[in-house]
Order: sequence, then structure tokens, then C-alpha cells
Amino acid sequence: MRSFVIYQKPGFYYPMHHHPAEELYLVVAGEGEFHQEGEESRLLGPGATTYHASNVPHALTTHEHPIIAYVLWRGDLRTKPVWTYPEELT
Ligand SMILES: [Fe+2]
Repeated sequence: MRSFVIYQKPGFYYPMHHHPAEELYLVVAGEGEFHQEGEESRLLGPGATTYHASNVPHALTTHEHPIIAYVLWRGDLRTKPVWTYPEELT
């Protein structure tokens, strides 16, 4: 297991990506819109959590507020995230 804290400024977009590690976000401050393939996007604030199962594509957008989140990874910690739709990034 690995844990880390992330900060993202307002107006940030982390595109759809996936990784074999399971991922749990706990929003500490601010807010962010979490996207997960096949589900409705959810705007989450302090205290909220979201879980990304292994290799399920997901993304994060911030709007007018930054976000600070505590993140837990479990499983394959060596394989880095890859873009799910790299053709959309050009
Ligand atoms: Fe992720």
C-alpha cells in the first residue's frame, strides 16, 4: 500500500487514465469533480471518498476551487498510470 497527498489548483484537468492499483481518494479540503467510466460524475468536498477499482478509467477536474486529497493505492504499485484515450490529448 502507498499513500500520498495531492494538491491541484482551480481549473485543473487530469484526463482519463487507469492503473492496476486500486485507488481511494479522501477529499481533505476544497472540491473536485471525479469522473469514472460508466458512472455519473460526482462533485466531492471535504470528507467525501471515491474508489477506483483496478484498471477502471477515471479522471479529475477542478473548477473554481482547488482540492487537497489524501490518496491510497493498493496492489500493483510499480505500474504507472497510462492515459486511457491518448488520442484525445493531442
Ligand atoms: Fe488514478
